[in-house]
Amino acid sequence: MSDDLENLLHEERSFPPSPEFAAQANASAGLFEEAVDREAFWTAQARDLLTWDTAFTQVLDFSDAPFAPWFADGTLNAAYNALDRHVDNGLGERVAIHFEAEDGTGETWTYARLRDEVARTANALTGLGVGLGDRVAVYMPMIPQAVVAMLACARIGAPHSVVFGGFSAEALHSRILDASARMVITTDGQFRRGTTMPLKGAVDEAIAHGDTPIEHVLVYRRTGGEVAWDESRDVWWHDVVPRQSTEHTPVPVPAEHPLFILYTSGTTGKPKGILHTTGGYLTQTAYTHRNVFDLKPETDVYWCTADVGWITGHSYVAYAPLVNGATQVIYEGTPDTPHRGRWWEIVQKYGVTILYTAPTAIRACMKWGEELPNGFDLSSLRLLGSVGEPINPEAWMWYRRVIGHDRCPIVDTWWQTETGAIMISPLPGVTATKPGSAQRALPGIGMDVVNDLGEPVPNGGGGYLVLTEPWPAMLRGIWGDQERYRETYWSRFPGMYFAGDGAKKDDDGDIWLLGRVDDVMNISGHRLSTTEIESALVSHPYVAEAAVVGAADDTTGQAVVAFVILRGEFTELADEVGEGRDVVAQLRAHVAHEIGPIAKPRDILIVNELPKTRSGKIMRRLLKDVADHRTVGDVTTLADSSVMSLIQRGLAGK
Ligand code: WTA
Repeated sequence: MSDDLENLLHEERSFPPSPEFAAQANASAGLFEEAVDREAFWTAQARDLLTWDTAFTQVLDFSDAPFAPWFADGTLNAAYNALDRHVDNGLGERVAIHFEAEDGTGETWTYARLRDEVARTANALTGLGVGLGDRVAVYMPMIPQAVVAMLACARIGAPHSVVFGGFSAEALHSRILDASARMVITTDGQFRRGTTMPLKGAVDEAIAHGDTPIEHVLVYRRTGGEVAWDESRDVWWHDVVPRQSTEHTPVPVPAEHPLFILYTSGTTGKPKGILHTTGGYLTQTAYTHRNVFDLKPETDVYWCTADVGWITGHSYVAYAPLVNGATQVIYEGTPDTPHRGRWWEIVQKYGVTILYTAPTAIRACMKWGEELPNGFDLSSLRLLGSVGEPINPEAWMWYRRVIGHDRCPIVDTWWQTETGAIMISPLPGVTATKPGSAQRALPGIGMDVVNDLGEPVPNGGGGYLVLTEPWPAMLRGIWGDQERYRETYWSRFPGMYFAGDGAKKDDDGDIWLLGRVDDVMNISGHRLSTTEIESALVSHPYVAEAAVVGAADDTTGQAVVAFVILRGEFTELADEVGEGRDVVAQLRAHVAHEIGPIAKPRDILIVNELPKTRSGKIMRRLLKDVADHRTVGDVTTLADSSVMSLIQRGLAGK
């Protein structure tokens, strides 16, 4: 890392915006001056970008810090802002969504069609007993109905809790319980790599625990085929939604009304329900979508490849693009189905102009070879975005050259589930970009890099990324646990939000993100916590103790590596590798069952001891050295310093 750091800080390549791009850009350097009066700036954005039912007179109230209500006396509705107002303004025939199914069939959703379907679904939800403030879990694949479900909830003021379709029944169960959701909206199944996979079965399994408040399960038929059915609880979408009226008045809610809860991994085992509210969240997502992606709603075709199960799919698929009246692509499948050029084929087919994706996908495409993208017409592209993890300069340069033909500005956007919207990014048309650096806080955002004492580091120095001012899309807390909210984000450096990321300032003051400084891993841009996977492992009867680390991985950024001590009576199993008895395979399957396939360890190493400090804390740093095949660092603080050599010898013998 330290060599890389040296290199990072000596990056000399710089790509100033082309005069043509700058001339037409939405953003200008003047935004930074306008934002000097932060509250006036955000007030102007909130008024310009959104339609309010009741105008707000209050802006920010940080008197009860770290709680930060914005625009609190205003009222509005998110679905009205995303849909109805465009239809009312004569844009009903504009395409909202080009849906590309995995099998290559497509569907066009105009704003009018989407508005009507959301209105019908909102009526159906009301008919099924969902009211203002009730929580609704959404567990669906990447199809337009997932967006319909989210917006239908927003339309009636029922906060949604979207659970990624790749999470297991157990993960769904704990999220339903934590949010006390009344309803789950799901599909019978999903298409994945040319086959169908069940989805509703996991909902049944989650509810079979018998302790959830779920009253109804609304099921959209996607794949067909048999599903188990509970007449008293389950409702087919096609039985209830199509017969509803399209007459529906969106419910105006206060700006601080909860819009959604989204669970994300933290440093302890239990995922946190990050709470976002309506007015501030919509303001900042719409503002960043317009300025960071240089959106021209009349002409652009925007494509964000994120799933709605993650924050990127909330802010930059379900909400901001629609609030801004954009035309976007939604793709159901994987990048390599049925062939590895699929994404580029989609860019060509729809004439995508703005592409927003993750470094892990770019690195996978680099591996597959540039002949694939070269085989398609990518000339429609005019801007490229990156999110989810640090983008290494090599991947950045490849993205620029092979996908962007040296013509498209790249915006490397840093933000989190908690921040709700983009915080650090170049401004296209304004910033001269540097490969691998997210560069500057956006206008209106207060950010710094501080040392252990909370003091800002000078240019050239490194430390912790903090946010120094409240921002409109800021999380409003952790659902049901506001103490944990204070503790996690606001206690490390008083008065500042601790993001959990390491960062450096280079000589120009540009920011380089260096990855997490806590026990959160970043696997293919997905957040997973080491402790969550450790808890999953120790819940298996074979396992006495487990330690998990994120090892460096060329494609996925990090990969899960687990060190496991088996219980005495099972230790001999470790040597018996055979059908159905392969301990490692069983443990991997167990993690998939407890959390989901994305959490499956790449490697599980069975060991006899784990390195611990005298106070009993596992020294993951040393295990990370082993997993990364590095020389093991300082072992002097270990209770038993021979442990590491035992582990290494054990592994060498395998
Ligand atoms: C990481 C995803 C470097 C970071 C929107 C952060 C990044 C975590 C970047 C949040 C980036 C996200 N450069 N690191 N451009 N974007 N991260 O909550 O570690 O899934 O804390 O939100 O991803 O992940 P989350």
